[in-house]
Amino acid sequence: MKKIRKAVFPVAGLGTRFLPATKAIPKEMLTVVDRPVIQYVVDEAREAGIEHFIFVTGRNKAVIEDHFDLHFELYDTLERRGKTTQLERLKGMQPDAGQTSFTRQQEPLGLGHAVWCARDLVGDEPFALLLPDMIMETEKSCLKEMVALYGETGNNIVAVQECDPAEAHKYGIVGKGADVHSGFEITGMVEKPAAGTAPSNLFLNGRYILQPEIFAILENQERGAGNEIQLTDAMLKLERLQRFYGYHYKGRTFDCGSPEGFIEANIAFALWNPEMRDRIGALIDELFSEMHPAERQKVAG
Ligand code: UTP
Repeated sequence: MKKIRKAVFPVAGLGTRFLPATKAIPKEMLTVVDRPVIQYVVDEAREAGIEHFIFVTGRNKAVIEDHFDLHFELYDTLERRGKTTQLERLKGMQPDAGQTSFTRQQEPLGLGHAVWCARDLVGDEPFALLLPDMIMETEKSCLKEMVALYGETGNNIVAVQECDPAEAHKYGIVGKGADVHSGFEITGMVEKPAAGTAPSNLFLNGRYILQPEIFAILENQERGAGNEIQLTDAMLKLERLQRFYGYHYKGRTFDCGSPEGFIEANIAFALWNPEMRDRIGALIDELFSEMHPAERQKVAG
């Protein structure tokens, strides 16, 4: 069985839900407490043993490449100023030379198309795919658990989580079959099922291990929902040829692709940070019990 060495990060989307914040800054570079969103996802991949990080970028995304580059002037300045904590932290996050690759999706034609753009960089081996919008609590690496399951089952693995059944129509949903090792057999997949037709409430949470045969399918994949080339549509075709297993992730996931999910992530990571916890917790309590400033102004007359 081939090892999972490479991970693909599709970062070419327009991030329209964050406009105007994302007019000039990629949404993946917005910060959750002290790190850009993309850093959380790359760290998760590194923890899972990934050795090569492939970014599918687009216009206005060059700063992501800079973020993962070695900034030797900054390192030198930090060293001279004795800022060793910051320096060590930066070095710990730094991919080694030759561990990153960047390719461009020239037009945002959909997630499936973005993944296809990585075909030559991935080559003929299974790979991990991580949607950078979704960040997970750092103590439980979702991808690491998936790689462990892959070691037992091979084939394709998708991570899932439970959603409110009333919300199932917003997601890619899988059908659950028999338990296998730490996962289960997938008995079907459907992208945004019509209300009441979902096979379960288990949604695809943005972490995949896929076999390279997905690329040949994506090459001919027609546009689907939203007039975009959808990854789930291509996975449905691959499912006819190869097995898919589900890994039920039990940790917390934050959808940083939506402003609400992004704020939730900031609150959670601030409260999980021992240096911030008391102050931010107290502020939240205080603001929650106070009147909204507009209301206060009305009362004051
Ligand atoms: P989203 O649909 O959440 O991202 O895609 P978006 O299109 O940037 O967001 P909105 O809806 O306009 O606010 C999920 C992931 O797939 C990438 C995005 O960058 C995001 O990380 N993506 C999406 C691409 O790389 N290319 C695409 O054509 C579409």
